[in-house]
Amino acid sequence: MSEGILLAKVARGTLLPEAERVARLREALPQIEAAVAGESDAVAVQATLACLLWETLPQANWCGFYRRIADRLLAVGPYQGGMGCLRIPFERGVCGACARTEATQLVPDVHAFPGHIACDDATRSELVIPIKIQGRLDAVLDLDCPHPEGFSATEARILEGLLARCFQGAGTGPVPSGPGAGVI
Ligand code: SME
Repeated sequence: MSEGILLAKVARGTLLPEAERVARLREALPQIEAAVAGESDAVAVQATLACLLWETLPQANWCGFYRRIADRLLAVGPYQGGMGCLRIPFERGVCGACARTEATQLVPDVHAFPGHIACDDATRSELVIPIKIQGRLDAVLDLDCPHPEGFSATEARILEGLLARCFQGAGTGPVPSGPGAGVI
């Protein structure tokens, strides 16, 4: 049975100073990468990252994935936090903007972002990062925070690197078959 990751406990909703957030994220990186190493199923990687990034980022009130399920449509994937909206067209919200442009969206004040979708009225800032698998947009990581400026450009760059490494082999593995295949 996994114990999650080893980090100091911080109360949910706490916005640590940026330097402490970056140090905490850097401390978590090798543990997160080890947890998903060799996993080729994208949803298994998403679910594990949603869990471990939730532990790593105490400032988040929502942490999870929207998956591309049609040409210009996202559907919610594994997440932690309050209930998120189920579907987001590419034309809507911060997640839609990320999917449309395939560029990270760092939003220090969601009230200043035209079209922001308020799944939780408490959310004040947001970070959304695109994930490509074999050159094609597969999903976005969505992080919400009840504080303004809850995420920094440095955290965004670190998370972009983490996602690129964690999803490198996703979607490429064979589907196990036969009795007991793939059971660890
Ligand atoms: N705020 C997002 C929608 C997703 S939820 O917040 C979980 C957006 O504007 O795309």
